[in-house]
Amino acid sequence: MKKLLGTLRAQGQFCRGSGSPMYGDLCELVAADVEDGGVFATILSGHEEDSGRHAVPLRLLGGLHRLVLDGRAPALRRWYPSTGGTWDAPSAWPQITAAATSHTEALRAALGHPPQTNEVGRAAALIGGLLRINHVFGFPIRLFEIGSSAGLNLRADHYRYSHAGGEWGPVDSPVTIHNAWRGPLPPAAALRITERHGYDIAPIDVTHSDGELTVLSYVWPDQEARLDRLRGAIAVARNVPVRLVRQSAADAVAGLTLTDGALTVLWHSITWQYLSAGEREAIGAGVNALGAQADPRSPFAHLTLEPARDGSDPRFLVRARRWPGGELEILAECHPHGPPVNWQSS
Ligand SMILES: C[S@@+](CC[C@H](N)C(=O)[O-])C[C@H]1O[C@@H](n2cnc3c(N)ncnc32)[C@H](O)[C@@H]1O
Repeated sequence: MKKLLGTLRAQGQFCRGSGSPMYGDLCELVAADVEDGGVFATILSGHEEDSGRHAVPLRLLGGLHRLVLDGRAPALRRWYPSTGGTWDAPSAWPQITAAATSHTEALRAALGHPPQTNEVGRAAALIGGLLRINHVFGFPIRLFEIGSSAGLNLRADHYRYSHAGGEWGPVDSPVTIHNAWRGPLPPAAALRITERHGYDIAPIDVTHSDGELTVLSYVWPDQEARLDRLRGAIAVARNVPVRLVRQSAADAVAGLTLTDGALTVLWHSITWQYLSAGEREAIGAGVNALGAQADPRSPFAHLTLEPARDGSDPRFLVRARRWPGGELEILAECHPHGPPVNWQSS
């Protein structure tokens, strides 16, 4: 019990500090309810000793958010900013415990699913890196992503990026990523992506309402900029197809080949930490093997947005290796959700 209370309160502090006062309040209210033996003690029973890594509070709150989004808990819509409401903890809480009492089984089932997010802001880092890389080659691009979730960032060239020096991307895009880039900007060139392939052990199809609700439910409901980006990206996904495959990252990389007259790109964001040591090793070997096959007519690039843990706090780095050559370059550092991306000189 002590462990669960600690996890709930730590999550609440993290959410509050990361721009979600609503989840800051909710985690604290749920913790107090568990201490008092209320409905959340029943829902969370059996999870008292779960590791913090399992993110039990976010599984629970994602399940509750889903009830609000799909209409099963209509009384909560007025308190959730994601459904046009206004958060007010004292007024909302009695209705939240009532909804939880009516949907105990659905909330217990939600605890069995890891939070599944696809952060569209990270497109700012990935597309900027691609602009930097492709500037050298100028080829059409075959794009492959491991840990692609819903594949939203495979459509990164269909989003608009605004920065102090101007904007890049289609003017009529339903997604604008504000304050996307700082420092020496990526070249404002055109990109031609001719293939888009995503691989994930739990891919989400956002072109159907079930998948759409899944990704929306794990965004904190009072983070409107993230929700706006996500809703815009779901609209783009309906018009820009990608091939999404349920496959492990290592198996996907093992199946990659290069093509004459095209730049083949493998990219991933915030996925490395979820892979086993064996899978990481296999991917590293696969990347090196592809690099060894690359030549000036069939180049290859490996582009990543992943944490680098060289000190106490991780730094989120945009790094690339491109072949022929294969030298590792640090292109930028950014917020874990993407903007602002601070580019370094090339
Ligand atoms: C934190 S999410 C990041 C999703 C997306 N790359 C983004 O930045 O929004 C990590 C993703 O990795 C996927 N994943 C975890 N283990 C995997 C594996 N072994 N092979 C492929 N995908 C995996 C998860 O299902 C999830 O979609």
